[in-house]
This record gives sequence, C-alpha cells and structure tokens, in this order.
Amino acid sequence: MATCSTNSDSVDELDDPGAAPYGNFINYYTFNPPENRLGLIPATLLQDLGYSNGHRTTLILDVGCNSGDLSVAFYKHLVQEPVCEEESDRSQVHLLGFDLDEALIQRAQQTNPLPSNISFIPLDITTDGSQLQDYLDQRGCSHFQLCLCLAVTMWVHLNHGDRGLLQLLSRLASISQHLLLEAQPWKCYRSAARRLRKLGRSDFDHFKTLKIRGDIAEHAREHLERHCGMELIQSFGNTAWDRKLLLFRRR
Ligand SMILES: C[S@@+](CC[C@H](N)C(=O)[O-])C[C@H]1O[C@@H](n2cnc3c(N)ncnc32)[C@H](O)[C@@H]1O
Repeated sequence: MATCSTNSDSVDELDDPGAAPYGNFINYYTFNPPENRLGLIPATLLQDLGYSNGHRTTLILDVGCNSGDLSVAFYKHLVQEPVCEEESDRSQVHLLGFDLDEALIQRAQQTNPLPSNISFIPLDITTDGSQLQDYLDQRGCSHFQLCLCLAVTMWVHLNHGDRGLLQLLSRLASISQHLLLEAQPWKCYRSAARRLRKLGRSDFDHFKTLKIRGDIAEHAREHLERHCGMELIQSFGNTAWDRKLLLFRRR
C-alpha cells in the first residue's frame, strides 16, 4: 500500500511509491475506497451549509482528484438523484475536479458517469490558479461554495516545501466559501520518505528542511484562521487512516 497505515508506521507496499512522487497512485481507490471517508460526511452537508436552494448554483472544487472516483462518489453522496426533472438539484450543483497527472485525469474523464454535472481538468495548483478563476468567472461566481482538499497537502508540502504548503492553503481559502481538509499527519511524511529511501531514490527535495512538522492539521488550522480569514466550524472525526476531516468556513 502506498501510504501510511492507521495504527503503526509500517506499510504494506503493493506498488512502487517512487513512481508516484506526487501521490499520483494509479490504483489509489483500490486501497482507499471512497466509502472510507464518505461514511464520515453527512449526506445533508450541502443543505447544512445553506446550499439547498434549488435556484442557486453550487460549485464544488476537488483538488488533486486522482482518477475521480471520490469526486463522483462524493457528488452522488451529496446530491440525490431526482425523482422527476423538476425536482432535480443536480442541474444546479457542479463539481470540478483537477489533478496534475494527465493520465489520471484522462481516466476520470473517460469514466465520468455525470458529464453534465462533473468535469475534470489537468492542472497543477502550485503553478496555475488562473484556470480556476476563469471557471468561476464564466459562471458568474466569486467562489466555490465547497472545496475538497483531501490527502493532497503532504504531497505539495514534500515537493514544494513549507512555502508551497502555505501558498496552497491561502490559494484555496481565497477561492472557497467552505473548505473540507484532510491533511496527512507527520507519520505519513516519514513513511513516504522511508519508502523512497528503501527504493534507493533520493529524498523528497524538502523533507529534511521542513519547519512545519508535528501536528500538520493544527498548523493548517492556524494558518487558515490567522492569515486566510477562515474558521474551523466542524470536525467530522478521524478516518480509518487516523486523519482528521476538518471543515472551515470563510468568516
Ligand atoms: C493521495 S491522492 C488523493 C486523491 C483524492 N484527493 C482523494 O483523497 O481521494 C493525491 C493526489 O493529489 C495530486 N496532486 C499532488 N500535487 C498536486 C498539485 N500540485 N496539483 C494538483 N494535483 C496534485 C496527485 O496527483 C494525486 O492524484
């Protein structure tokens, strides 16, 4: 398994993590199926956040969506299938998933069961934010109502350093009304670095020099609350991999 496990730092390695230096595992959902996390998220989340008005467009962003399995499952979990056309909430809720890995995005596009409601684009969030702004502008919206950033922070942190992590959080906060964050804990960093070493590869560029370490979720919360105008409003508990699912809202 190309990740860290729940109750120890040991990992089963079913594939070569060296081939996925950005967490772009080709088989991610075989070892972390969407249900693992969806079970913690209420199906009424959009209503709970005040986005149930069928006349308004709700935009959801999924950062680092991999092959799109969770994006689709998340959408279906939150937006019920209409009984009749008039009742359709689906026409009003759109999800945009993006990932830096073009092959994963191609797979997501090819297997997308709801192309009118869900779209996938290739994008590296560390280099380009304008495409997201264009997407919002085209729909006359200033923000995504909900942004998912699940299991992505560590990869940006390891590959782009402390600055990259903080920039990611700031950027997402600037375009989101609500942000659902699952930050990998520090033990995952150690596992990821150890796996690279085992393979005889050089360390992640930034691993040894990171100053942000320890309780990563707490560091993220602090940055979002102190510098990005967001506040933590809910924790959905811990996932099977012992990661917190935290919901932030623009103040
Ligand atoms: C471990 S997977 C998590 C996938 C999904 N978010 C989930 O939780 O099910 C991390 C994903 O983040 C993507 N990723 C890493 N850095 C990225 C970046 N700078 N821009 C866009 N995607 C990125 C990887 O390609 C990978 O597909």
